[in-house]
This record gives sequence, structure tokens and C-alpha cells, in this order.
Amino acid sequence: MSGTGVHEVFIPRASNSADKIDATLSYILEIEVVLLTLVTAAMIFFVIKYRRKKGRASQNIEGSMLLEIIWTIIPTILVLFMFYIGWQGFIRIRTIPKEVMVIKVIGRQWSWLFSYSNGKQSDTLRVPEGKPMKLLLTSQDVLHCLYIPAFRIKEDCVPNMETYLWFTATEPGTYDIFCTEYCGLGHSGMLSKVIVMSEKDFEAWYSEAPEAGHISGLKVLGDKGCLGCHTTDGRAKIGPTFKGLYNSRVTVVTSGREQTLTANEDYLRRSIKDPKADIVKGYPDIMPVIPITPEELNAAVEYLETLK
Ligand code: CUA
Repeated sequence: MSGTGVHEVFIPRASNSADKIDATLSYILEIEVVLLTLVTAAMIFFVIKYRRKKGRASQNIEGSMLLEIIWTIIPTILVLFMFYIGWQGFIRIRTIPKEVMVIKVIGRQWSWLFSYSNGKQSDTLRVPEGKPMKLLLTSQDVLHCLYIPAFRIKEDCVPNMETYLWFTATEPGTYDIFCTEYCGLGHSGMLSKVIVMSEKDFEAWYSEAPEAGHISGLKVLGDKGCLGCHTTDGRAKIGPTFKGLYNSRVTVVTSGREQTLTANEDYLRRSIKDPKADIVKGYPDIMPVIPITPEELNAAVEYLETLK
């Protein structure tokens, strides 16, 4: 069993659980390679040695009790040891330390929302280095699955249910977050980042008060998950882009009837609050109703109007 495995070559290792997980995988992989080599070599050897030859009759082989016992006991020991080190790793990733900071995670079509206990929200996960963090996961719509390869942790997000993960980030840096449960059209784009900061930088970010009296429209669009499906740069994603939308002419389907209208402020507000009212032609009718306060709605609409 080696501590450093092939895994780190491909994915950085940045949490306290990573070494255990990698050691388990390496151990299993190494046994597999040895067994594959032995079995393949024996197979080739027998194929050549006992190939059909003129004048050689086949024999009736009775079998060997000793061999049967050996190749039952050795693999049983190997597999039990796999179970043992897997179980050790499992205990480590399921046992939460007493002192943890809790972050709530909501998966939704198709973005992540991370909420901190002081009310801070973000679509990227920021954590301090060296401190145990607990994630409480749920979903707003369908099954999602939060996966942070560099931390070697992964857990399903299930509607109406709370699941958990914990980790201590060990290396400052920015690492990928994926959704690994097929959750519809935007699944492959349901990406985010975890940013591991020094404790000092994290404290500064965490205690930073939101600008008084001002809500950033772009931040609202990010936090509410709008940018999971809509871009601000002109590219069409799952939904139409926001760029140049304001006051443009759009063809929509309203109660089954096609019509062309101007995307004025009323249209923007209606489309956010009641996504089923007008469906833009050529796009699927899948936008969820997203809870939004009047202030957030104002900020979002105000921002959309600036995207020329
Ligand atoms: Cu969310 Cu796949």
C-alpha cells in the first residue's frame, strides 16, 4: 500500500480525507495490476504449453483441494483488507469533529448556492485553510450531487432531505466543483469553484458587510442561479442571453400562441416572477420560479437594462 498514488498526478490533493481515499484506491489498483499480470501470464503460458499437438491425447484432471483452498483464502484476505481500509476512510469522512463551521448548500437547476450562518451567500464556496467545515446539502428541485475532486468528497443533494459532508481544506488554491448526478439539460454546466483562503483572508471576506443600501444586480443573478442558464456575453445557453435583451424584440409563445413583443421593463419583471407566462421561442419551458425579494428584483432588472 503506498500513500502517494497515481491519483495525485491528475487531481491535486487538498483535504484531510484525500490521503486515506487515495491510499485505498492505490491499494486496490495495485492488487488489481498484480492479479491481472499473474492471470494473463498463466493464461498465455497454458495456451502455449497445452496447445493441440499430434499424438497427444487429453487427460482427465481431477482437480486439487489444496489449490482450491489457497485461491479461496488469499483473495478473501485481500478483499477483507480492502474492506478494512475502506471502512477506516469511510469513518473518517462520516465522523464530524465537534468544532465545525456549517455552510448550507443548495443544488438547483443548474447552479449551486452556498449560505453561511451570518447570512452571506455565494455561488462559489469559500473556506478557510485548516478549519473543519461541514456542508449541509439539499436540493431545490431534482437530484444533484456535489463533488469536489481535490477534496475526494462527494454527496447527493436530495429534495426535502438534508445530507452532509465535512472536510478540512489543507492547501490554499481554487478547485473545481462538479455536479455528478444527471439533473437535466444544464447538468454538464453545473460547475462552480471552491476557493481555499488563508484564515485571515477568509475572516476578512466573511465579516465584510454588504455595501449599505445597495444590492448588486449581477450578484443577485449569480446568487439566484440565473447565470447557470443565461449568459451576459451574448452566447445562448439553456436560456437566451441577457446581453442586448432589454428593449429588443422577442418572439414568445404565450398560452400556446406565438407573438412578438418588446422586452421592456414589464416583460423583464414578468419573466422573472412568472417564468411560464411567455416562453421565448426556441427555448424549453423549464425555468423554475425563484424566490426573490422586491429589492433583489429591482436590482436585477436595473442591471439587465444596462446590458446593451
Ligand atoms: Cu445538478 Cu447534475
